[in-house]
Amino acid sequence: MCIKKLQETPAFNPALPCTEVITLMRQMYNTPKRLFLVTTLLCNLTSSLAATTISVSASASHAVPTTLFGQMFEDINHSGDGGLYAELLQNRAFQRVTPNTQAALSAWHSINQASIVVIADPVPVSAALPNSLQLTIPPGTSDKVGFGNEGYWGIKVEEGTTYKASFYYKVSALNQTSPTKAPKPKLQVTAGLQAADGTILASASKALAFPAVPSDASAWTQVKFNLKATASPPSPANNFTITIDASALSGSGITLNFAMFSLFPPTFKGRDNGLRKDIAEALLEMKPAFFRFPGGNNLVSIMMDHREFNDAYLMNPGGDSAN
Ligand SMILES: *[C@@H]1O[C@H](CO)[C@@H](O)[C@H](O)[C@H]1NC(C)=O
Ligand SMILES: *[C@@H]1O[C@H](CO)[C@@H](O)[C@H](O)[C@H]1NC(C)=O
Ligand SMILES: *[C@@H]1O[C@H](CO)[C@@H](O)[C@H](O)[C@H]1NC(C)=O
Repeated sequence: MCIKKLQETPAFNPALPCTEVITLMRQMYNTPKRLFLVTTLLCNLTSSLAATTISVSASASHAVPTTLFGQMFEDINHSGDGGLYAELLQNRAFQRVTPNTQAALSAWHSINQASIVVIADPVPVSAALPNSLQLTIPPGTSDKVGFGNEGYWGIKVEEGTTYKASFYYKVSALNQTSPTKAPKPKLQVTAGLQAADGTILASASKALAFPAVPSDASAWTQVKFNLKATASPPSPANNFTITIDASALSGSGITLNFAMFSLFPPTFKGRDNGLRKDIAEALLEMKPAFFRFPGGNNLVSIMMDHREFNDAYLMNPGGDSAN
């Protein structure tokens, strides 16, 4: 940087002795003492370099050290989320979005006119994830209602592969005057993978427990599904779907909140919450001597605490770059 500034200095004359250049620099940039030392070193270095002759031999050679080659991860253009990180759902936890906007629903789509909205949850699943997806089932609905996620430019689905799906849910409102409230209505939930033409590629159902309308975060429950694909559609334009059988809920006035969805294919070394197998294996086969993570821009702009990587699932507010 000092050299750059020197070159940008209109009054800079390469013939000036170093001491004069440094005095000039100090006047122009009010360079603090610490930088002054660096400037002195760089200046003396560049002036000594000017006198060096470099000869290049066409034949001389030596072994290239194996420690010279490594990999650097730069978090741009979905190289992390949507790339090396194996999570298949986009906008899975409504991080860094503005609640009650259409943009907050990015990558999500309603199924059978279900009413979905991203809210600032008064009782969120964790302090780091303040938003949740709220599903309201209008009275008289008898269909399967819910929502789908389009993934990152689709979701690649392969026959015979088991995908691990999960989400957190809670009941945030229930019609207290409804006769169906005792016994409690049945909450039948189906998770699935669907091709663009609606073909079901994988599906699993569960009858969920019916927790009381919550007053604290313990009301959140995580549900897990294993989705085994029965086909390999040629197109990746597939969706992850969650539907609820509304026929048993008519008049219940039920409102459900969802948080932290997830869908993982088998990962590198079978690790939970892990890396994409194909990419990580290719990187490993290159036998890098080092792997630099995170990339430069993230080092500049954010602080990362390695302890957060332990069980950061619900504790990570998400990065500040949405690209
Ligand atoms: C991001 O990816 C898109 C699509 O491949 C490409 O057009 C764009 O140039 C990329 N942007 C950067 C910053 O690499
Ligand atoms: C499935 O994804 C496509 C985009 O690939 C989107 O247009 C469609 O609305 C999605 N459907 C569901 C149910 O998520
Ligand atoms: C609540 O229950 C009452 C009585 O069954 C019914 O009239 C009303 O439509 C229900 N409200 C909702 C939002 O389902």
